[in-house]
Amino acid sequence: MDAAEEAHIADPNLGTVVVTAAELEQRIAELGQRVTADYEGRPPLLVGVLKGAFVFMSDLARAIRLPLEFDFMAVSSYGSATKTSGVVRIVKDLDLDLSDRHVLLVEDIVDSGLTLSYVRRNLLARGPASLEVCALLVKQGLQKADPDLRYVGFTIPPEFVVGYGLDVGERYRNLPYVCRYMGQ
Ligand code: IMP
Repeated sequence: MDAAEEAHIADPNLGTVVVTAAELEQRIAELGQRVTADYEGRPPLLVGVLKGAFVFMSDLARAIRLPLEFDFMAVSSYGSATKTSGVVRIVKDLDLDLSDRHVLLVEDIVDSGLTLSYVRRNLLARGPASLEVCALLVKQGLQKADPDLRYVGFTIPPEFVVGYGLDVGERYRNLPYVCRYMGQ
């Protein structure tokens, strides 16, 4: 057992691993190849939703063999620590103008889909040439409306997870895998 595995076991809030580091690496390489093929000749602007998407976006971007540009926005959704209310507010807006850009929105996880639906409507109103979504994780069966996701990494059971960008109270974002969170 290495030091990271020991630290995981020593933390009673961390449960079983849902997506391993090796699975993430392989799937992101596949997603990168698909994006590269789909966007040849019309390089995308990657838009990341902070903070959760930063780890995924960094790995995904390096798997895309095209000239890329990046921008970020941060949203906060009102609700409890582990549930979104659907009322979303932009706390950091984009720096770039989206008009006539091929925008690829990069999301960490789609749970109810309410955050994504808000962000998508907001970005569409800025007149991009195209807008598609790449979500690393989608929770099974929880979306209220069809979230229309062009690229999905993994569909996972509807449980709260942390790691690989996902947090609880700002912790665990740096875990190199995704695992269940057992705390309250
Ligand atoms: P939605 O609006 O219900 O789809 O929730 C989306 C946002 O809630 C994500 O961008 C995350 O920031 C957060 N979220 C949802 N589920 C989880 C989870 O299992 N772990 C960590 N954050 C989550």
